[in-house]
Amino acid sequence: MMQDVLKSAEISTGLLTKVMGKNIVLFSEVDSTNDVAKKMEKEGAQDGTLICAEIQNAGKGRRGNIWESGSADGIYMSLIVRPAMEVAFAPQITLLVAIAICKAIRKQTKLEALIKWPNDILIENKKVCGILTELELVAEETQIRGVVIGVGVNVNNESFPPTVADIATSLKIQSGQHVERKEIIRSFLQEFEAIYLQYIKEKEFKRFLTEYKSFCHTLLKEIKVTRGSTAFFGKAIDITNNGELVVSSNEGNVIVNAGEVSVRLFS
Ligand code: BTN
Repeated sequence: MMQDVLKSAEISTGLLTKVMGKNIVLFSEVDSTNDVAKKMEKEGAQDGTLICAEIQNAGKGRRGNIWESGSADGIYMSLIVRPAMEVAFAPQITLLVAIAICKAIRKQTKLEALIKWPNDILIENKKVCGILTELELVAEETQIRGVVIGVGVNVNNESFPPTVADIATSLKIQSGQHVERKEIIRSFLQEFEAIYLQYIKEKEFKRFLTEYKSFCHTLLKEIKVTRGSTAFFGKAIDITNNGELVVSSNEGNVIVNAGEVSVRLFS
């Protein structure tokens, strides 16, 4: 199979959105699409601008991790959105991105993609997609000026570097078939737009809670929650109307906010 190369015209063909991906900027190589997007956001890029790269030389993961991005088999994309909202809503936007990419993967591949709270996408217990959201605020305010939503998807990778080989998988490994990256990107943009436009109108995560829970791999699992240098064990028992995780522990029920923790599964 020949390597598919991303072309903006191909992503745009048949793209049924009003805002998301109306402006697409493609690079063959960048350090991090999130960094490019943050720069473009500062320079006034329009709402819904999408930046994609074939490879990243310094792909960033959450909590200072590296995101393996040396293979053009993956998707490395960052979407700029400009919701007129307070910064406190930002974690919810990331949960909505997880719903959208989960739905896109399911629709395009029929694979049972699940969300590890808050926003990793797993298939068969292995990570296939990660999301890194970065915020720019209106100067000296708590109002969001722009959100850069970075999404990395392992699509046609056949193997991974030893550092992540045990925990990573790809759509091709799981489906046994080549998957067109542009189809996943287009589908993601459509799914996300539908969710996002409704969300910014109502400013409530609650409407999406049932769907989020139906995809959530973490619920009813034994987990370890790490907050900075402290950690505790418990069972994930619920998700609140605001998208926080409710963990039943020795200390009673603890409400965990997406921004501040890392969660590991123990069952
Ligand atoms: C994680 O699970 O740790 C988040 C990974 C996010 C990776 C994507 S790839 C595109 C965008 N650019 C980056 O540097 N990171 C995000």
